[in-house]
Amino acid sequence: MKKIVLVCTGNTCRSPLAKVLLENLSTEEEEFIIDSAGISAFPGQRAAEMARRAARERGLDLSAHRSQQLSKRMVREADLILTMTGSQAHRLRLSYRDESKIIFSLGEFTGSSENVEDPIGGDLEVYRQTREQLKKILQAALERIPVFFSQAGDLPVSKNYYRRRIRMNLAIGSDHAGYPLKENLTSWLKEAGHNVVDFGTDGPDSVDYPDYARKVARAVVLQEVELGILICGTGIGMSMAANKVKGIRAARCQDCYSARMARRHNNANILTLGERVLGNGLAREIVSAFLEENFAGDRHQRRVDKIMQLEKEMRD
Ligand code: RB5
Repeated sequence: MKKIVLVCTGNTCRSPLAKVLLENLSTEEEEFIIDSAGISAFPGQRAAEMARRAARERGLDLSAHRSQQLSKRMVREADLILTMTGSQAHRLRLSYRDESKIIFSLGEFTGSSENVEDPIGGDLEVYRQTREQLKKILQAALERIPVFFSQAGDLPVSKNYYRRRIRMNLAIGSDHAGYPLKENLTSWLKEAGHNVVDFGTDGPDSVDYPDYARKVARAVVLQEVELGILICGTGIGMSMAANKVKGIRAARCQDCYSARMARRHNNANILTLGERVLGNGLAREIVSAFLEENFAGDRHQRRVDKIMQLEKEMRD
C-alpha cells in the first residue's frame, strides 16, 4: 500500500487537518496510508484547539492526534511527501536528495503554486479558511495521486520526471503567424496527457493577436487553467498584450533557461513564443522547461509581490 506523508512545521495545525481531510476525501478504492509530521515538531503535542474545532465542524476528529517530527525513516518509507509551502518542499528536497523526486508542496503537486500558510495564532475563522483551502487543494491533489503512483514504477530519470508527467490544465492561443506552431504544440501536449484548452485562432487567416492574448489571459486569471501559452510571429505582441491583464505575468522565452527561470523566479503564468523565431523542436523544449519548473517562493515571492503592487499603483 502506498504511503503519503503530509508535512507542515509543527504538526499541530495544517498537516493533521490535511490528513483527516484527505482521509475523508479519498474513496475506498484509493488505498493509501496517510500520515502527517512536522519539519520542526515538538513531539507528543495535541492538535491546536482551533484546528480540532475546525475539523469537528466537518465531522472530523483530531482528538487522538499527537505531533511527530518527520524522521529519516518516514521519508525513506514514503511514496509521496506533500508539504504546505514551496519553501518547506525545497528544504526537504535539499535534506533528502535521494527522495527529492517524491517531495512536493501541495501547490507544486497540483500546479497551482499556492502555499497553505500557517494559521497558528489565528481565530476559528482563520482556521476555517485554512481548512477550506486545504480541502480544495487536496481535492485537486487527489486527482493527481493515482497518475503519480501509476508512473512511479518507471525509475526516475531526473528530479522533474514526475512533474513532467503530471497532467496539467493549460490554455493555448495564437494569431495566424503562430497558428502552425500552436497546432503542433497542442497535439504534442495532449499526447503527453495534459488538458489543453485551445482558444484559437483556427486557421491561417490574418487576425489580431491581442484578441487571443485576452482569451488565454482571462482563462489564467480566472483560474480555469494553471498556465497559458501564447504564440505569435515573434512572441512580443502576445507578451505585451497579455501583460496588460491584471494578474498576468507573461514571459517571452527563446531558450530553456529563461523558461525555467520565468517560472522559478518570476512565477510567470503565461509563456509567449515566436513561431518565426523558433523551430518546433526548440519550442517544445522551451514549453517542457516552463511546465516542469515550479516557483521557488521566499525572496522571489517578495519581488513578485512588488511587481503586482506596481500593477495596482499604476492603474487609474
Ligand atoms: C503578425 O504579422 C505579427 O505582427 C504578430 O504575429 C506578432 O509577431 C506580433 O508581435
